[in-house]
Amino acid sequence: MIEIRSLAKTFSDRRGEQVAAVNKVSFQVEEGRFYTLLGPSGCGKTTTLRCIAGLEKPDEGEIEVAGEIVFSRGNFVPAYRRPIGMVFQSYAIWPHLTVFENVAFPLRVGKQRFSSAEVKSKVEKALEQVELGSVGDRMAIQLSGGQQQRLALARALVREPKVLLLDEPLSNLDAKLRERMRVELRELQRRLRITTLYVTHDQIGALSMSNVIAIMNRGEIVQEGSPREIYLQPHSEFVAQFIGSTNQFSGKLRAFAGEGCACVETPMGELLCTLSGELAPGSDVVIMVRPENIILHEARPPETANVVEGKVATVMFLGQYLDCTIELDTDLLQTHQRHSLRLRRGDRVWVELPPNDCLALKAKG
Ligand SMILES: Nc1ncnc2c1ncn2[C@@H]1O[C@H](COP(=O)(O)OP(=O)(O)O)[C@@H](O)[C@H]1O
Ligand SMILES: [Mg+2]
Repeated sequence: MIEIRSLAKTFSDRRGEQVAAVNKVSFQVEEGRFYTLLGPSGCGKTTTLRCIAGLEKPDEGEIEVAGEIVFSRGNFVPAYRRPIGMVFQSYAIWPHLTVFENVAFPLRVGKQRFSSAEVKSKVEKALEQVELGSVGDRMAIQLSGGQQQRLALARALVREPKVLLLDEPLSNLDAKLRERMRVELRELQRRLRITTLYVTHDQIGALSMSNVIAIMNRGEIVQEGSPREIYLQPHSEFVAQFIGSTNQFSGKLRAFAGEGCACVETPMGELLCTLSGELAPGSDVVIMVRPENIILHEARPPETANVVEGKVATVMFLGQYLDCTIELDTDLLQTHQRHSLRLRRGDRVWVELPPNDCLALKAKG
């Protein structure tokens, strides 16, 4: 439904230097899917979205939406003729227009003319879709934060686009409302089966809503996959660190130890690790272990791989879990433990780093 090929867009910054905001990006969004571009601020998400919407003219590449090439060399379909609805980070709704008039706006400014009966039925349908059917006469400013969010969605949907583009639409909401809107937005998307491209730097949002996530860094897509793949099998330090929290330490790959496994020499001794990507014995690696995968024992567990001795440095109650840091000879390890854990600060512990959860990645540089 959306196909992007080698999209590139460069800006010149204030000193006149060229910044590659989007650097040869390619991806595809299949019909009815929820696809997320996830990455830190400044990595090129908004620029990509604006190019697709026709609000920005790319330097190079090709953009196809719903079977039509809307951008290629010498071909630029203007924004209003693209079958796209977009919601911006600032919803850009008009506070002193009614809810109805806010949604009617795209119909009134478009090239295509609609009778007032048509406008009425289209606006009412869009408002029904986001469950704002009963508040059409209110001023937009009288709506709650969540309702304003839905109003922005109704306005994006009123022209019945083939594709919905969402640029950090939940970032202005407080944490509780954001959580609820994530669920609501995803439900709406499922119900309408509308192909959606979502842009965010919020990892939890991306993990919970997406069919596919593409991680962006410095204008490039560095990994694409399902939320599960991205979280459990990051291909690089960047992805592992960006998604969720992780412990990391360096080592040297000694020898393979069965399918996808290897012995890695580390400052805390030899560890059995799972390999990510092509690695040869002798190469420098970084080992990543998520805090929730680390197991603590009060006594040394017999016949268990990857056990290191340490001391409890801090125990913090965080509601959902205990955040427990462990001091090793060489490193501090962050772990998440259950409330039933009886260890206290200063206690001696045996830390188990399950080989399946110790991911060895190629070290940078
Ligand atoms: N209109 C512009 N003029 C100059 N630089 C821009 C412009 N828009 C974006 N940039 C630069 O392009 C890069 C990517 O920006 P953007 O696409 O907004 O990133 P994101 O949405 O991921 O935060 C940043 O370095 C940003 O400063
Ligand atoms: Mg942005």
